[in-house]
Amino acid sequence: MDWAVVVVQWLHMLFGIFWFGGALFGNFVLGPVLIKQPPDRMRELALLLGEQGDRVILPVATLTIVLGFLRGTVFGPVRSIEFLFGTAYGITWLVALLTAIGTLAWGSMTVRTMRRALLAGADITGSTGTALRNAGIELLGFAVILSCMVLMRFGL
Ligand code: HEM
Repeated sequence: MDWAVVVVQWLHMLFGIFWFGGALFGNFVLGPVLIKQPPDRMRELALLLGEQGDRVILPVATLTIVLGFLRGTVFGPVRSIEFLFGTAYGITWLVALLTAIGTLAWGSMTVRTMRRALLAGADITGSTGTALRNAGIELLGFAVILSCMVLMRFGL
């Protein structure tokens, strides 16, 4: 057994679960509670959650992507352009990589846009509703990434 691969995969899965789980928790637990709060409380909580979310999730998501990159290349079979574009595994890995970068950018933009709007005095209920809709779109990215992980597990 190659222990370096085991360690990279273990860390990759830990950070990936953290990132994806955080998005699910935000969408299905925090969001619905937040939107029912009185406006002042909602504004205060949204600002605090946005700040903390950015501080924690940004590095966690970046590490997931970097470790996934390494797991596929240095510790995996994606070692040439021919393999990347000429095999099902290579293409699936590339789709996962690009979708994850897009998902991270979208999530980060959603949080920052909401924060800016709130600091500029925008209507809190409207801003939270928009942020929750945008966060829902982020889940589509995770569905694609998760499918890629399952496909790669079976060599596709
Ligand atoms: C939300 C983000 C992600 C999550 C939750 C996640 C989760 C996982 C899990 C659970 C596995 C283990 C699959 C298994 O062995 O059954 C895995 C493997 C793997 N992941 Fe990810 N991953 C994510 C993002 C990425 C990204 C962005 C890349 C590519 C840059 C990537 C590349 C890989 C590779 C190459 C493997 C090994 C596949 C194999 O050959 O068996 N992952 N990931």
